[in-house]
Amino acid sequence: PANKSLLVLPGDGIGPEVMGQVRRVVDWMDKRRAVSFDVTEDLVGGAAIDVHGIPVTDATVEKAMNVDAVLLGAVGGPKWDNLDFSKKPERGLLRLRKDLQLYANLRPALCFEALVEASTLKPEIVSGLDIMIVRELTGGVYFGEPRGIETLPNGERRGVNTQVYTTSEIRRVAAVAFELARKRGNRVTSCEKANVMESGVLWREEVQKLHDESFGDVELSHMYADNAAMQLVRNPKQFDVIVTDNLFGDILSDEASMLTGSLGMLPSASLGDVDETGRRKALYEPVHGSAPDIAGSGKANPIATILSLAMALRYSFDLADDADLVEEAVKKVLAKGIRTADIQAPGSTVVSTGQMGDALLAELEAMAA
Ligand code: NAD
Ligand code: IPM
Ligand code: MN
Repeated sequence: PANKSLLVLPGDGIGPEVMGQVRRVVDWMDKRRAVSFDVTEDLVGGAAIDVHGIPVTDATVEKAMNVDAVLLGAVGGPKWDNLDFSKKPERGLLRLRKDLQLYANLRPALCFEALVEASTLKPEIVSGLDIMIVRELTGGVYFGEPRGIETLPNGERRGVNTQVYTTSEIRRVAAVAFELARKRGNRVTSCEKANVMESGVLWREEVQKLHDESFGDVELSHMYADNAAMQLVRNPKQFDVIVTDNLFGDILSDEASMLTGSLGMLPSASLGDVDETGRRKALYEPVHGSAPDIAGSGKANPIATILSLAMALRYSFDLADDADLVEEAVKKVLAKGIRTADIQAPGSTVVSTGQMGDALLAELEAMAA
């Protein structure tokens, strides 16, 4: 079989640190499993600004369009925080999402049994938790026009962003959520604020219509996003699949990360449509950012990014066995009490980013032997 092509964009802060460990897993798979990878590495975010003056170049976007999958670390940091808005590191990531039309962002929040104690919530609330948040990723207030900062005649300044959704934008992401639900607990909760926003009214109506037309077998409920935020910490196991807009999805997924123990545990997949060649455009990245507060200290948890690779194996490469293997290695390491600082517990062994990589590779090797 042809090699799988991967574009690796480590980015900034802890991005390159966690991606270093992912590269080791990729190299291990290349050697020890049936799959082979062609890996290209490139710059994004602040790292691209430093070299090219912009957070992502046309050439990099072009490469991203033409690989089987993109793996991204994280972008941003204090060094670039004062740049003009359009030149910030985050714009690089947003452009990749938009240009590749990666409209469905899958953010699973899964509580590993060994980490039940690492959550700030009571064990019985999070034990066995398995939620899939489907966040719309190419629309809403992140991209709506008009936007900007203007100075009014009276000298006051005005910041403007616009929440917009069209029927087709809502339907295509809702379809992804319904299809995922069929393979899981068969329940979808759609979150918006239809009580205050017209775009929320449209969201609710279109999700309901699509359900009635094509997904009547899936149980659908609607919930205001603020209530969903509360319900996520009150009784998170009531949820199976949550589908929501770009901004609410950003917030609810960070919130959900703490149910699993740490933001350093949460992977994501950003998926587009299948193109003429049968390839689905896809980018995989951890939910967390560049963590400037711990960058360079060896404290970063690489598991979110390694689990993002597992999602690539599952969703882009149809290699469920290899994905299972990576996830199994994570489970085993956690069960042994080997932890980065963010998920430490009484009696656990706190290790560095690189040592977590060592432990994962040792488990992979032991399972493959
Ligand atoms: P962050 O996710 O970088 O960090 C939030 C907190 O979680 C920090 O205390 C950090 O130390 C901790 N944390 C995050 N990832 C961790 C990991 N793997 N292991 C251990 N601890 C981890 O969010 P922030 O501090 O609000 O943002 C920092 C920068 O990252 C900003 O420039 C922001 O725009 C950017 N950001 C980028 C992405 C992305 O690239 N997808 C996502 C979120 C934020
Ligand atoms: C995320 C991040 C991004 C977002 C930023 C860095 C643009 O917070 O991926 O969750 O807001 O989507
Ligand atoms: Mn976020």
